[in-house]
Amino acid sequence: MQQGQFITFEGIDGSGKSTQARLLAGALERAGHDVVLTREPGGSVGAEDIRKLLVEGDPGRWSPETELLLFNAARRDHLERTIEPALSAGKIVISDRFADSTRVYQGATRGDLRGLVDKLHALIIGREPDLTLIIDTDPDMALQRGLARGSGEDRFEDFGIDFQHKLRAGFQALAKDFPQRCRVIDGNTGAQDVGAAVEKIVLDHLA
Ligand code: TYD
Repeated sequence: MQQGQFITFEGIDGSGKSTQARLLAGALERAGHDVVLTREPGGSVGAEDIRKLLVEGDPGRWSPETELLLFNAARRDHLERTIEPALSAGKIVISDRFADSTRVYQGATRGDLRGLVDKLHALIIGREPDLTLIIDTDPDMALQRGLARGSGEDRFEDFGIDFQHKLRAGFQALAKDFPQRCRVIDGNTGAQDVGAAVEKIVLDHLA
């Protein structure tokens, strides 16, 4: 059977990428595709357990290095149990965040760990998405959206607005590092407009 397609969404906290991942999954399902919608950190039973350690609690709970190991442990489980079986079965996997989040959050902004991030990725994960949609949203707008949700998963939002500005620049730089698979989409318009832009890019990609 033909390998499926691996599509990821990336962006700062509250950028609207989770909404877009859901909208895209619905649109592709309606078009007759077999879709698995998943997320990181999480996306498998073990990785969801690790997620709680990462997104709840005090911002200083982990050093950047410890955090990096936890994200990789969660990602490996997600890859083994959810992503790879679905791709082998020819499905379209849509993940709300993947390794680019680690490159930007841990690699560029939580300490200068990019070298270690890339080495660990090569050793433990070794897979890149076929297409990455970066939802580029103004951090002031995004932070308000994120905190307004009151999910209790605010450990990264609690690092503050300067951190979110650095993250935005980090994702923009990342798109230049991986121009073949990354597309930057303006996230400041309404969810429907962003959704239409996403759908067009993905349908072109699948064609
Ligand atoms: P997520 O559930 O996507 O939060 P949100 O919907 O608010 O964007 O991700 C949880 C947090 O984990 C988010 O603040 C980003 C952070 N994160 C990293 O720092 N590194 C990673 O590798 C991943 C996957 C997420």
